[in-house]
Amino acid sequence: MAMTGTDAYRAVGGLPDGVARAVTAARRAGFPYSCRPEQGRLLQVLAGGARLRIGESGTGYGVGLAWLAAGAAPGVELVSVERDPARAAAAAALFADDPRVRVLAADWTELHAHGPYDLLVLDGGGQGKGGGAADPERLLAPGGVLVVDDFTPADGWPPLFDGQPDEARLHWLRHPALRTVDLPLAADLSSIVAVRRHGG
Ligand SMILES: C[S@@+](CC[C@H](N)C(=O)[O-])C[C@H]1O[C@@H](n2cnc3c(N)ncnc32)[C@H](O)[C@@H]1O
Repeated sequence: MAMTGTDAYRAVGGLPDGVARAVTAARRAGFPYSCRPEQGRLLQVLAGGARLRIGESGTGYGVGLAWLAAGAAPGVELVSVERDPARAAAAAALFADDPRVRVLAADWTELHAHGPYDLLVLDGGGQGKGGGAADPERLLAPGGVLVVDDFTPADGWPPLFDGQPDEARLHWLRHPALRTVDLPLAADLSSIVAVRRHGG
C-alpha cells in the first residue's frame, strides 16, 4: 500500500458520520490499514446496488464497512469478518446501533455460512494474494459484484508485482465465472471490480 489508508483521511472532510467514527477508532488504535477514501467512495456507490446482503473479509476498525453501510439500503444485511478479536469487538461496538450490520470475529471463510452476497469485498482473506482465493460461484449471487482492493495501477500487460506477473490480479482478471475490470482509483491505487456472469 503506497499511502496508508487511515492517514489518507487527514485532509478529507465531509465524511459520512460512521466513516468518521471508524477512522477515529482506527487512529486511536494505531491501525494504519483502513481503506482509502477513494476506495471507500467506490464501496459506498456499489453498496447502493445490493438487494439483500453485502459481505466483507477483513473488517479492521470498520472504515470500509462504514462506507458500505452508508451506501446500503435500509433492508440490506452487512456481514463482515475479522480474525483479530480486539478489532472485531471495536468494530462491532461502532455498529451497535445499526441492526443491518454484523461483525464476526472469525476467519474469512466464515463468510460461506452467511452468503450468497450481492456485493463481496475481499480486504482480509480470500483475495488470492499469497493465500486462498474466494470462489465467486459459492459466495456471489448471480450478477453479484466482487471487489478486491489495494493494487497498483498497471501500465502494461501482464500486470506486474515486484517485476513478476501479478498472479493474484491475473486470477481475477481471467476468472471464467466473472467479468472483471482493474479500476484505477488514484495514481497509486487500483481495485479489481468484477461481476459474476449470469449462468456462470
Ligand atoms: C487491510 S485491513 C482491512 C481494512 C478494512 N477493510 C477497512 O476498510 O478499514 C485487513 C484486515 O484483515 C484482517 N485479516 C487478515 N487475514 C484475515 C483472515 N484470514 N480472516 C479474517 N480477517 C483477516 C486483518 O486482521 C486486518 O484487520
